[in-house]
Amino acid sequence: MPEVAFTTYASSPELSDDDRLVAEVLRRRGISVSPIVWDAADVDWVRFDAVIIRSPWDYHLKPKRYEHWLRGHQAVGTRLWNPAAVVLQNMHKRYLLDFAGRGVEIVPTRCFSMAEVGESAAAAMLDDLPWDDVIIKPGISASAHGTWRARRPFGQEVRSRFKEQRRTGDLLIQEYMTEVASHGEYSLVFFDRHYSHGVLKRPKDGDFRVHEALGGRFVAVEPSRAIIEQAERVLSLVEGPLLYARVDGIERDGRFVLMELEINEPELLLRLSAEAPERFAEAIVNIMD
Ligand SMILES: Nc1ncnc2c1ncn2[C@@H]1O[C@H](COP(=O)(O)OP(=O)(O)O)[C@@H](O)[C@H]1O
Ligand SMILES: [Mg+2]
Repeated sequence: MPEVAFTTYASSPELSDDDRLVAEVLRRRGISVSPIVWDAADVDWVRFDAVIIRSPWDYHLKPKRYEHWLRGHQAVGTRLWNPAAVVLQNMHKRYLLDFAGRGVEIVPTRCFSMAEVGESAAAAMLDDLPWDDVIIKPGISASAHGTWRARRPFGQEVRSRFKEQRRTGDLLIQEYMTEVASHGEYSLVFFDRHYSHGVLKRPKDGDFRVHEALGGRFVAVEPSRAIIEQAERVLSLVEGPLLYARVDGIERDGRFVLMELEINEPELLLRLSAEAPERFAEAIVNIMD
């Protein structure tokens, strides 16, 4: 019987509710699915027919360890999905700037390597920004961890928080996109590079973070063909096979503006599409052939 591992994390070692949907389809097809905490000791990953990164949702709190873990899989030849090489490129949100350089419209972003920046230079950075309303977030983050909003005039509280946060690593500063709250943030989910389903995520009133754990609301949507094509174009810039991908962004004047390309550990929102669990299962079966 083929065996597949879904990686999870120590605080929530079982399958997520969403991933349970695909695991059930796989089990019906004679494939066993085991949730395994990604950084558990002494796991023989190589014995699995596929190791699928699903919910290692504390990796951003120990990014060095995660990177080491990914490189370890590369070294021993684990059948890891997505492949370690693309995940490594996707961990730090600076990849957004690479996409921008290749013609993708991204949320206006500046990335600061904070290790090299002194305290007074950090304060000047805020003043020099071309925007009045910004989102500040860590280069490596998930679940909106460390993500906050600041508006001009940047007062003492903002300056202190920024200076404090710069000690934790690289930071991204972006223009605040009003569309997230007014219309919603799209997530377009792909399996094996084929579009599967779309979801629109809205924050609760008074917040800008769309995550469900923070009161955000998710609804299934059918984005326009033009939006799907723009998300496909983003994916086309990533080389190699991709078991899954989630392209997140907003719509502005009919254009798709990229917020994130999630190819590391995205929640795939399977519960919001009747066909998605089957499609994901099919893609998993295909990569094991
Ligand atoms: N530039 C922005 N403008 C408006 N909202 C933003 C912006 N950046 C992030 N957000 C909000 O914060 C959330 C988390 O940021 P995101 O870049 O998606 O990182 P992650 O999902 O990895 O934590 C987004 O889903 C969105 O709700
Ligand atoms: Mg996100």
